[in-house]
Amino acid sequence: MSEIIFELKDVWFSYLGKFSALCGVDLTIAKGQKICVIGANGSGKSTLLHILDGLIFVDYGSVKFLGKELKEKSFGDENFSKDFRRSVGLVFQNPDVQLFCPTVKEDILFGPLQLGIDKLEIESRFEKLVRFLDIRHLLDRSPHQLSVGEKRKVAVTSTLIMNPDVLILDEPTDGLDPLTTRHIIDLLLEENENGKTIITSTHDLHIVQEISDCVYVFSQEKKIISSGSPDKILEDTKLLQDNNLIHIHRHKHDQTTHIHPHQHLEHHS
Ligand SMILES: Nc1ncnc2c1ncn2[C@@H]1O[C@H](COP(=O)(O)OP(=O)(O)O)[C@@H](O)[C@H]1O
Ligand SMILES: [Mg+2]
Repeated sequence: MSEIIFELKDVWFSYLGKFSALCGVDLTIAKGQKICVIGANGSGKSTLLHILDGLIFVDYGSVKFLGKELKEKSFGDENFSKDFRRSVGLVFQNPDVQLFCPTVKEDILFGPLQLGIDKLEIESRFEKLVRFLDIRHLLDRSPHQLSVGEKRKVAVTSTLIMNPDVLILDEPTDGLDPLTTRHIIDLLLEENENGKTIITSTHDLHIVQEISDCVYVFSQEKKIISSGSPDKILEDTKLLQDNNLIHIHRHKHDQTTHIHPHQHLEHHS
């Protein structure tokens, strides 16, 4: 098996000591894997991703990054902190959290300049991403004046430009049109082919098959209720329905009303 990037054992977390957000999570992520975390609203997906990005720290249990315990005090070590921030990048669920510069261009360049990444490398990645995500016309605008979809593209760009080994994306295609979704997935798949580890949360079942080789399903109890290949998970209608990932659809044929699970998943041969 390839190198283990993250290893979580019996992880518990609550906000302000009273709002449970993760209740006993075990998870192992190896280098080069594509991991997808799915679950209903409030099942703990964002909390897990924030823990993996070293933004919050567990109440109980252990989180290891490349074999080293990931604790608040680990970030007191400047070398560790810099290495970790270079290796792991998160695209937040809410792009407003990520964008704060006066212009889109400054926002995209802020992170890599801060980390001291080679200027030529920054320029070439900048050009590629701007072209690929079609955001050239947005570069001089204020990030706060953009639509949600435009903001998300800028947020994805500002993380990808840092070229992290591990890419964590919290609902990266939420609010995006189909073509933009396609472009983002293509970018992620290309990064993965280049050896990057991709960890995505979503409740858009359309994208699960492509962006994962292993899926973890979070339940309302804020723990992993099932895991496995995307084929195995997407076939399990009861699991998806019980965890609010597909809804019951009501429609009429002639005069009869039918009620059945509706996944919005097209099957292509
Ligand atoms: N800042 C916060 N303060 C208090 N509770 C929070 C906060 N953020 C999330 N929670 C709670 O933690 C649980 C998990 O939330 P979250 O990780 O955001 O779930 P998801 O990303 O799956 O929607 C939810 O019950 C949510 O209400
Ligand atoms: Mg979330």
